[in-house]
Amino acid sequence: MKKILGIALTVMLIAGVSAVAQQKELTFYGSAEPRCVEVLAKTYEKVSGVKVNWIRMSSGETLARLRAEKKNPLADVWWGGTTDPHSIAALEGLTENYRPALWQEMDSRFRDPIGDWQVLGIYVGVLGISANEGLLKEMGLPTPTGWDDLTDPRYKGLVGVANPNTSGTALTTLATQIFLRGEDEGIEYMKRLHKNISNYTKSGVAPGILCGRGEIAIAIVFLHDVIYQIEEGYPVTAIAPKEGTGYEIGGLNLVKGAPHPELAKKFIDWLVSAEAQETQAKVGAYQLPTNTKAKVPAVSIPIDSVKTVDYDFKWVAENGVHIMDRWTREVFTLPR
Ligand code: F6P
Repeated sequence: MKKILGIALTVMLIAGVSAVAQQKELTFYGSAEPRCVEVLAKTYEKVSGVKVNWIRMSSGETLARLRAEKKNPLADVWWGGTTDPHSIAALEGLTENYRPALWQEMDSRFRDPIGDWQVLGIYVGVLGISANEGLLKEMGLPTPTGWDDLTDPRYKGLVGVANPNTSGTALTTLATQIFLRGEDEGIEYMKRLHKNISNYTKSGVAPGILCGRGEIAIAIVFLHDVIYQIEEGYPVTAIAPKEGTGYEIGGLNLVKGAPHPELAKKFIDWLVSAEAQETQAKVGAYQLPTNTKAKVPAVSIPIDSVKTVDYDFKWVAENGVHIMDRWTREVFTLPR
């Protein structure tokens, strides 16, 4: 009898252990397109057996969420979105420095944008202009070729961009103008641009979709998103601004106080691998991968082929809150 009880107990214990193993799960916030976040979650579940919960939010929205959850973090990892809100989070103590196991495979130009592994660089994308040339032609308007063209009064109500408080794309836009012109002149440029804006959206890709649908004629977006929209059949053209433009390094971070820090580190190790980065092109995300072993999608825009500004990620980490505040007070509140 004792023996039977012993066997029963052992079986129960083994069942208990495997139930705990099955319960292994982590949560991550993703700030690129939902299809990009979902494919990572599904692929990692298959390769690791860990259940992966995910929520997609724009970069600035995720920063706000991490601030709100500071005392009781709910997420383990923050993947994607532009580096800038990630680095602001790092400086505010919302994330942990972590150097992934595969760091030697990562492109040294992009893997560590603000130093000390405070933010990991996972992809690169060039900022630019999307134009609905058919619509512009119908209206008898020229196709813009650069930033200054966008302030032409003939484009009043025809230009779209997101709000830099919620969108990393829009913060890159604001910082790009500052790197091109200096801080005060950059704000002055944003005031001139403001007169032509139809609507500030929450997410960075939204203006590009509105442009493709012909609701507006011009959008300020990342050019890899325009390439995807062209593939999807939208009548848009990707333009690299002639004055020079900014670019993003997609960010990756370990959340400070993550509920599952060890699982989170393993997940991050995987997220920087060629295998993880190659999932993105399969869902039409054409940023340049930062893992040097990852296949570069044929349609991606090589960063060296575009005239870029000297984008100072450290400066934006330290001054991002200040310039967003200036934009909100000095630009957003102006009548259009
Ligand atoms: O997923 C597309 C993308 O353009 C990414 O390259 C970028 O990091 C992210 O969107 C930015 O989104 P948002 O501007 O909404 O923060």
